[in-house]
Amino acid sequence: MSSFTSLLFSCAAIAAFLILLRRWRYRRLRLPPGSLGLPFIGETLQLISAYKSDNPEPFMDRRLNRYGLVFTTHVFGEPTVFSAEPEMNRFVLANEGKLFECSYPGSISNLLGKHSLLLMKGNLHKKMHSLTMSFANSWIIKDHLLVDVDRLIRLNLDSWSDRVLLMEEAKKITFELTVKQLMSFDPDEWTENLRKEYVLVIEGFFTLPFPLFSPTYRRAIKARTKVAEALTLVVRERRKGSESDGNRKKDMLGALLASGEQFSDEEIVDFMLALLVAGYETTSTIMTLAVKFLTETPLALAQLKEEHDQIRSKSKTGAPLEWSDYKSMIFTQCVVNETLRMANIIGGIFRRATTDININGYTIPKGWKVFASFRAVHLNPNHFKDARSFNPWRWQNNSEATIPVNVYTPFGGGPRLCPGYELARVVLSVFLHRFITIFSWVPAEEDRLVFFPTTRTQKRYPIIVKRREESSPCI
Ligand code: HEM
Ligand SMILES: *[C@@H]1O[C@H](CO)[C@@H](O)[C@H](O)[C@H]1NC(C)=O
Ligand SMILES: *[C@@H]1O[C@H](CO)[C@@H](O)[C@H](O)[C@H]1NC(C)=O
Repeated sequence: MSSFTSLLFSCAAIAAFLILLRRWRYRRLRLPPGSLGLPFIGETLQLISAYKSDNPEPFMDRRLNRYGLVFTTHVFGEPTVFSAEPEMNRFVLANEGKLFECSYPGSISNLLGKHSLLLMKGNLHKKMHSLTMSFANSWIIKDHLLVDVDRLIRLNLDSWSDRVLLMEEAKKITFELTVKQLMSFDPDEWTENLRKEYVLVIEGFFTLPFPLFSPTYRRAIKARTKVAEALTLVVRERRKGSESDGNRKKDMLGALLASGEQFSDEEIVDFMLALLVAGYETTSTIMTLAVKFLTETPLALAQLKEEHDQIRSKSKTGAPLEWSDYKSMIFTQCVVNETLRMANIIGGIFRRATTDININGYTIPKGWKVFASFRAVHLNPNHFKDARSFNPWRWQNNSEATIPVNVYTPFGGGPRLCPGYELARVVLSVFLHRFITIFSWVPAEEDRLVFFPTTRTQKRYPIIVKRREESSPCI
């Protein structure tokens, strides 16, 4: 036997041995039912092909029917327990930092920056998470953020005429809002240039799983450096300014600098980037999809229009929206909840088990991933009647008895609950208010937005807008 064939032979023997060992080890544990697929690639190809089709549910539906609400699969190089069980999802979310921890691929960490809130663990995460929550709580929104949210949304809508790419416009609005909230800059050439670089960074997030071969990823890393440089300059300027004159700006950067912690420039920049990243695709997608769902549900649109026209009729032309106006948007909140339920922008979250975990009579082995699927719960007819149709009225008379908290989790929960949950709701409500009272619209082309979009909605959703007669320019 040549040395080459014997090498080959030993490799094959070792591989077979490893597979057997894996089988043996897993059989001793009581894993949830399911299939690990082929060695190494597992069921990744099935998952990807399902998500490339217009309706990604087959992957999930088929396995849920076959194995039940918790099953084992093997995707992106790792054995993974998929959960569509509300109680198990709650358990996973609540035990973040104890039995589970979040884990992102290295390619993502490089783009986020090592001081990003999304990557922090333990006590540091706890502290920074509550600081972030305090930047966007309802008091801050009411006293500071609402005015700018309303003003910047109007500024954008007033420039629309005829055909607009709704998704693109929503992204522009979202970015401008975040920059304003972070560092008080109004949109101008500087913010628009920053956004151009920033968009390249975002594209880098979607180049998994082979970043090193991807020009998009390399371009994203370069763009990240540029964005970080620009933000670093802002931070330095502000440090100088806040030393010389006492009246600091009331934005998130100001709050960070005044928090009493000695953050480095790099830490602050990573922190700001995390907020820009986390709110961007999410908020803009929800704005676009709300309009899409409403377009397809004329009864809901009519009821919403009535609610908002009534709010407008009570205030002077061009008057800014007040907190009490927001609080009177009752049906709007049903629309917001239903849009978040149907759209599932964050379809679920990955965590890694830090120890062997026994739950529901199963074992999740240490080091395995768990995917707590929000989408699977939100679209389960046992939890929501006629779950795959848009029905905002289901939220009327809502009480915790009808929809238990662990069943509806568009913003996650536990120690990593989305700090932007309230802000996102306010932004969407204000956007709907202005959009509906200023315009009437129709989809521009045959509407090709996928029914259950994945996070990255490639479709830009073109619409034709027309100013409603009774509305006059606001600014
Ligand atoms: C509709 C819009 C949004 C949705 C559906 C959404 C959803 C989520 C979800 C599910 C998580 C939990 C991730 C996990 O547990 O690993 C999360 C985390 C986060 N979100 Fe949001 N989000 C939205 C908007 C925003 C906005 C506007 C901001 C900016 C203020 C924001 C900032 C964050 C941050 C910083 C985290 C990380 C928290 C941590 O790891 O401790 N999100 N979001
Ligand atoms: C919308 O969902 C939230 C939970 O995220 C709930 O607290 C609220 O009551 C719901 N609103 C309506 C109108 O049902
Ligand atoms: C909510 O309650 C009102 C009055 O109690 C009732 O008329 C309406 O049908 C209820 N809506 C739903 C969706 O249950």
